[in-house]
Amino acid sequence: MTRRLGVLISGRGSNLQSLIDAIASGRLDATIAVVISNQADALGLERARAAGIESLVVSHRGWSSREAYDRTLARELQSRDVGLVCLAGFMRIVGASLVDAYPNAILNIHPALLPSFPGVDAQRQAIDHGVKISGVTVHLVTRDLDAGPIVLQRAVPVLDDDTEAALAARIIEQEHLAYPEAVGIVLDGAWRVEGRRFVRL
Ligand code: GRF
Repeated sequence: MTRRLGVLISGRGSNLQSLIDAIASGRLDATIAVVISNQADALGLERARAAGIESLVVSHRGWSSREAYDRTLARELQSRDVGLVCLAGFMRIVGASLVDAYPNAILNIHPALLPSFPGVDAQRQAIDHGVKISGVTVHLVTRDLDAGPIVLQRAVPVLDDDTEAALAARIIEQEHLAYPEAVGIVLDGAWRVEGRRFVRL
């Protein structure tokens, strides 16, 4: 796997920023080869520009199928020699063409302790369910939504008077630590997947 990252975003891009910052400070040995957004107005695109990183908008609209869209994403990534794809608030389900182009080489960050609360509004789900602990999960992306092998997790408390925003703020702080760390672990390559377990060697 090359140490060249492709980061896929849809919005704010604060996790993208955590990767940019970790690389700039030498905590993460990697290069962001390209940032791709499916939304033209994503704030993360500004972050990429400010850091001098190539960015592209590839809208998900107007394709004949999800696979056609995903094939295009895979081509854009492969043509830049991307070795590891990082989904960072990319609000699209990744289809087979992209997963198969990057087997065990796509990471996602999710704001809950999977397998609890997959999908959207994970922080809301955690509050509504009444769990006392939630957190963040970084996992490999497989064809099953939010269900790939877990690289790492970090826990945060859920407080009785938490709003969704308060919990999200507590979780995102941990996300910004977890994502660069997980990317480093995966790039270093001392791991294998056993069944659905990500095991470090
Ligand atoms: C994060 O909470 C991430 O876990 C989820 O989407 C959010 C993206 O935030 N997948 P940002 O765009 O990285 O700021």
